[in-house]
Amino acid sequence: EKAGFDHFMLKEIYEQPKAYRDTMMGRISADGRSVELKEIGMTPEQIRSIRNIQIVACGTAYHAGMVGKTIIESLARIPVEIDVASEYRYRSPIITPETLVIVVSQSGETADTLAALREAKRCGARVLAITNVVGSSVSREANDVIITQAGPEIAVASTKAYTSQLIAFMLYGLFLADTLATREKDWIADVLASMQKLPDQVEMILERAQVLKQVAESLAKHNNLFFIGRGVDFAVAQEGSLKLKEISYIHSEAYPAGELKHGTLALIEEGIPVVALITQEDLYEKTLSNIKEVKARGAHVLGLVNEGSEVEVDELFAIPCTLPLLSPALSVVPLQLLAYYASLARGNDVDKPRNLAKSVTVE
Ligand code: M6R
Repeated sequence: EKAGFDHFMLKEIYEQPKAYRDTMMGRISADGRSVELKEIGMTPEQIRSIRNIQIVACGTAYHAGMVGKTIIESLARIPVEIDVASEYRYRSPIITPETLVIVVSQSGETADTLAALREAKRCGARVLAITNVVGSSVSREANDVIITQAGPEIAVASTKAYTSQLIAFMLYGLFLADTLATREKDWIADVLASMQKLPDQVEMILERAQVLKQVAESLAKHNNLFFIGRGVDFAVAQEGSLKLKEISYIHSEAYPAGELKHGTLALIEEGIPVVALITQEDLYEKTLSNIKEVKARGAHVLGLVNEGSEVEVDELFAIPCTLPLLSPALSVVPLQLLAYYASLARGNDVDKPRNLAKSVTVE
């Protein structure tokens, strides 16, 4: 059932190209110029009445939501808030009938996410669920559902579900942009063309997994490290950090690169590994100067960059070039592999990390 892979997690990492294709399949018009989400029951008029969006999720799904917020705000110009589900209800969120709540959940059974969904509906909001499981509680109770076609995810550490959620957010963002006419049709067609290249680009990253195995083996000797990035790179840094903690048990923190000097820079000392993501063109110079700050204090920096960009770091891993909003769907893959190989190097139970369950059904 592991199809020749040593662990479900590795198998699921390698299934991502297929998960991307399957999640896009049937949702892009034949001429490649628009998104077709027949599963969404909202009329254009109802969509035009959305005043604000709230994204609610836990763990990795929350990290997908962070990227989703950037995608929706950028494409549809609707303000988006995001909460972890266990906090959402208790902060008395302002929910009106013009609020769209998007819950994201691989399993569709996470107790806090389900409770948030119910609260949102009780307050009159319309709820859209992005979930991987047909017939799950979340899918049954939401008003609209986008199923991510990642296929069953067995490993506790979520990989292909996360990346499929990113694809779902892009499709939904483009769908909104088209309906609200916030973006030109030609622009949407270009983005869709770039999205269709992602599966092959992931394959290109997977072909270089051995390089990451070596990096991970030296990371696994450390007890502390940092992930830094700006914009969506920060969202991906958070996911990379969670993945590493979850299965390798190595402590790490993800920081918005510009925030380091407001405190955390004090922790940077000789030899500490820092994984720096630097894929966003408009933030390039700024992130570069943050990389210099940590290098000057002796950090050992692994830079995750776009192909062709030269950054002075100790180790460089290049990802294929794509549009800035799509880069998380590529840049997270090396981070998943780093976590996997670090866990392996430490002799951990990769698929069943200590203290954790695949589906968290208690609040
Ligand atoms: O099934 P869900 O997407 O609702 O699960 C949410 C989190 O429990 C889950 O993503 C968790 O953080 C993963 N184990 C992370 O790899």
